[in-house]
Amino acid sequence: MTKDGFEELKRKREELLKAGGEARIKRQHDKGKYTARERIEKFLDPGSFVEIDEFVVHRETEFGMDEKTILGDGVITGYGTVNGRKVFVFSQDFTVFGGSLAEMYGLKICKVMDMALETGAPVIGFNDSGGARIQEGVKSLASYCWIFRRNTHASGVIPQISAIMGPCAGGAVYSPAVTDFTFMVKETSHMFITGPEVIKTVTGEEVSFEELGGAMTHNSVSGVSHFASEDEDECIAQLRTLLSYIPSNNMEDPPRVDTGHSPDDVDESIDDVVPEDPNKPYDMREVITKLVDNGEFFEVHEHWAKNMTVGFARFDGRSVGIVGNNPAHLAGTINIDASDKCSRFVRFCDAFNIPVITFMDVPGYLPGTEQEWGGIIRHGAKILYAYAEATVPLITIITRKGYGGAYDVMSSRHIGADQVYAWPTAEIAVMGPDGAINIVFRKELAKAKDKVAKKAELVANYREKFANPYIAAGLGYIDKVIFPHETRKLICQGLDILSTKRQTRPPKKHGNIPL
Ligand code: HXC
Repeated sequence: MTKDGFEELKRKREELLKAGGEARIKRQHDKGKYTARERIEKFLDPGSFVEIDEFVVHRETEFGMDEKTILGDGVITGYGTVNGRKVFVFSQDFTVFGGSLAEMYGLKICKVMDMALETGAPVIGFNDSGGARIQEGVKSLASYCWIFRRNTHASGVIPQISAIMGPCAGGAVYSPAVTDFTFMVKETSHMFITGPEVIKTVTGEEVSFEELGGAMTHNSVSGVSHFASEDEDECIAQLRTLLSYIPSNNMEDPPRVDTGHSPDDVDESIDDVVPEDPNKPYDMREVITKLVDNGEFFEVHEHWAKNMTVGFARFDGRSVGIVGNNPAHLAGTINIDASDKCSRFVRFCDAFNIPVITFMDVPGYLPGTEQEWGGIIRHGAKILYAYAEATVPLITIITRKGYGGAYDVMSSRHIGADQVYAWPTAEIAVMGPDGAINIVFRKELAKAKDKVAKKAELVANYREKFANPYIAAGLGYIDKVIFPHETRKLICQGLDILSTKRQTRPPKKHGNIPL
């Protein structure tokens, strides 16, 4: 190697750092955004990043593109570590051709995806792009599809995570949509199939970028995104936290960490969370945070379908997925969005060997034509499908109501739970006392002189007979009726005994979940 060769490499490396040029980098910073390279540096452990394909350039000659080549072609790819565990990354560079995706750019992403799949490590993609590179036409479209295909094949094998840090429009949204989790940043990231201009032309509707496809729209209305952050630093911190709960691939268990919280160290105030009045709401997240290690609950989909709570936590250092009906919203009923939220989360946990702890307090499915016509039948069926196919340890705590079909699907013993515990406040029956009395005792009620007194008597009788956990316990459908303060230790012991659980299902190509 000559000295000239050294000089050339040095020059090229300096050129790489210039990306799309100072002006475009400044524009990026002025918007409150980091550059593609800064994002990788902040996300990975310091000094761990190994960039590959940095000298790849496009081979387009149309539209004067032969005179515009930029090293790396607008996407930075490679690998590194997060908390010492290997991950693969790609980061779209908006300063280079607007981060637009084209042939060579697509091949770079495919290369890291292939390496991630072969080595069993997660892929994290930072998206910030104007979409398909217009100058490369169908080659850009083909590149997207190479990525979609890999996303699909890697689904359930390695975790795939999308951080939306800028625009993500048109068909470009479908790669994040297939990945396991999508993160968005308020004000600076946007996702949509057709933008405000096209919508105005086609339907006459006027809508801003933020309202149409901003972080809170996709976190609270559409459910497309799982996490919203105030800025990119918070987003990057959330990404690192998520990775700490999950394994690197479907052949590994999630990492067990020393949380310093003993199973015997119990917050006794858990005994007071469920109100005496069965119709009074409470926040299931209070139950969860009083039970899990150090009260740390990493909530997923915090702003969407709040009647169902899902997220990650630890018991005795073991990572778990938590699902809970939340009586603080819609009385904890299950609707279409809650069904999608719960089933997708349970399936992620099952694919990646993460035990699921379910807290049940559900009065039923949400009634109404909107729900029926929207397909609550097929959406609701996803929950039972997800739990019934799961082979990871499933532990269920019935804190209060377990009524009807909703009782069955929410990780009941019958759908497949390994361990079921009920608090003394549990009520398990086909339906609530009011509805049941109106159906079963319609004639007696019609005949009664004092209808109110008769109804009260029948309701009290029904409550005494059915609205308790002892019939189910007598049948062995629940393993134990326990005081709330006994729950933490039992879950830790349950996870321990179930850690060697092995269950197999009949071989098949794939199931047909009701989508
Ligand atoms: C080539 C593009 C580009 C694209 C942006 N640029 N999008 N170059 N192909 N798709 C370039 C611009 O020419 C500009 O170059 C630079 O990137 C920055 O763009 P600006 O428009 O100046 O930035 P800004 O004002 O911030 O607007 C960003 C934007 C806008 C909202 C993303 O650029 C835009 O609307 N782009 C087109 C989006 C789009 O419709 N894409 C196709 C979607 S359909 P200079 O040299 O001036 O810096 C799609 C199909 C995928 O992607 C199909 C998959 C199956």
